[in-house]
Amino acid sequence: MLFWPFSKLGLSGCMFSGISLFFFMHFAVTSGFLVEEKALVLMTNYPLIDGHNDVALQLRILHDNRLSQIDLHNISRVATDINRLRAGHVGGQMYAAYVMCTAQEKDAVRLTLEQVDVIHRMCSEYPEFELVTTSHALRSSKKIACLISVEGGHSIDSSLAALRMFYRLGVRSMALTHTCNTPWAESSSEIYTFYPRDNNSLTHFGKAVVKEMNRLGMMIDLSHSSWDTARAVLQTSQAPVIFSHSSAFTVCDHRRNVPDDLLQALKENKGLIMVNLHSGFVACGAKGNISIAADHFDHIKNVIGAESIGIGGDYDGAAKFPEGLEDVSKYPALIQELLHRNWSEAELAGVLRLNFLRVFEQVEKVRDELKGTLPVEVQIPLSEAANPCRLVLRPPNQVIRSSSVDSSKVVCSGLHLFALSAVLTLHCFYEVVSC
Ligand SMILES: *[C@@H]1O[C@H](CO)[C@@H](O)[C@H](O)[C@H]1NC(C)=O
Ligand SMILES: *[C@@H]1O[C@H](CO)[C@@H](O)[C@H](O)[C@H]1NC(C)=O
Ligand SMILES: *[C@@H]1O[C@H](CO)[C@@H](O)[C@H](O)[C@H]1NC(C)=O
Ligand SMILES: *[C@@H]1O[C@H](CO)[C@@H](O)[C@H](O)[C@H]1NC(C)=O
Ligand SMILES: [Zn+2]
Repeated sequence: MLFWPFSKLGLSGCMFSGISLFFFMHFAVTSGFLVEEKALVLMTNYPLIDGHNDVALQLRILHDNRLSQIDLHNISRVATDINRLRAGHVGGQMYAAYVMCTAQEKDAVRLTLEQVDVIHRMCSEYPEFELVTTSHALRSSKKIACLISVEGGHSIDSSLAALRMFYRLGVRSMALTHTCNTPWAESSSEIYTFYPRDNNSLTHFGKAVVKEMNRLGMMIDLSHSSWDTARAVLQTSQAPVIFSHSSAFTVCDHRRNVPDDLLQALKENKGLIMVNLHSGFVACGAKGNISIAADHFDHIKNVIGAESIGIGGDYDGAAKFPEGLEDVSKYPALIQELLHRNWSEAELAGVLRLNFLRVFEQVEKVRDELKGTLPVEVQIPLSEAANPCRLVLRPPNQVIRSSSVDSSKVVCSGLHLFALSAVLTLHCFYEVVSC
């Protein structure tokens, strides 16, 4: 009697440990501690290349771009600093050189140059960073590689020459619009009234921008563009394009997100959608959690496959992020969730960095194929980009003395009349320096 219950206990204990070992093994690979380890090992081998970060905007807002006043290892009131990038296993980051749409028709080009400057400074004054401008340098970097992207076509003020100079400054991607239309492309947002569209989502000049970006080897970023503009670009571009920070419209019906038919067109283009983690786009305004963020990855994978997916966190470009994804140190939690959802290591290596590298390489390949092509010289018609800050070339006296323009012209062009030449030369000189 004494032994019976004991042996029964012994038997069931043995069965229990056998079953529990099975469950432990199963549990261990699919959840808990080992998945945590697995995510970190994966991210050590395949450090994340993220498509969009706005810390440079915060540096302007909070510190007037005075880097000497802060330590980029640990910055308060932002979601991005070196310590947290390290913790998040970030090996490459596309930093946005972004200026407000209200600078359109004003000093957008200067302000954008200042943002390019602060990214250059950030990435050269700290040894943990390294500015890269080629896919090869990005692939082989052992640091936190910095890429520069211009966020919004208003930053080039409708000038292909300005676009080319941004390329020379290291800019390797440009979003065609931010929240405002440009004279040549359409935004997903309607909050600004600049350049209302008349069913022309990508004008003749807009197509020239696409062509020139293909020729330069600059990635075309369709995040923030209207779906019509995105469709028109997908029909025009010879190179793959990216959505650097957009999510799935089917999961959250925000116009910044990408609908399934556009995802299909993106797949045909061999482009990339880098999923935005901002609550507004993943949870449609609610705070959300890692689970809803992962739903976007699952959905896009179901529609076009994991090889078309990357991550574009949008940290410091938005205030609200899902619980557990609050700053750039939290990416491993997302990878863990995708491992729980049975994403393979190969799929995740692609999402983390290989898909972006493939697209960047293809953009460079198209550039190489277009090597013999001359720079595009298309200029936007003044009627399409008219604004009071645009200098119109004309003799200096015409604006002020409009009523006497004709006579002054006659006088100046009559310089061959030697009898009057001395007086008239003085007159014209005076006009030039005083206007
Ligand atoms: C960052 O700085 C804050 C104070 O500004 C400090 O409390 C915190 O411990 C620092 N964190 C790290 C990781 O250095
Ligand atoms: C422009 O598009 C709107 C809405 O799609 C449509 O109602 C309108 O007829 C179009 N106008 C022209 C001129 O095509
Ligand atoms: C995430 O949020 C959803 C919806 O609110 C909820 O059903 C789910 O349990 C949450 N998941 C986690 C892991 O917190
Ligand atoms: C992951 O795969 C395991 C084993 O094949 C299966 O039991 C589990 O339900 C899957 N989980 C998900 C979220 O698909
Ligand atoms: Zn943005």
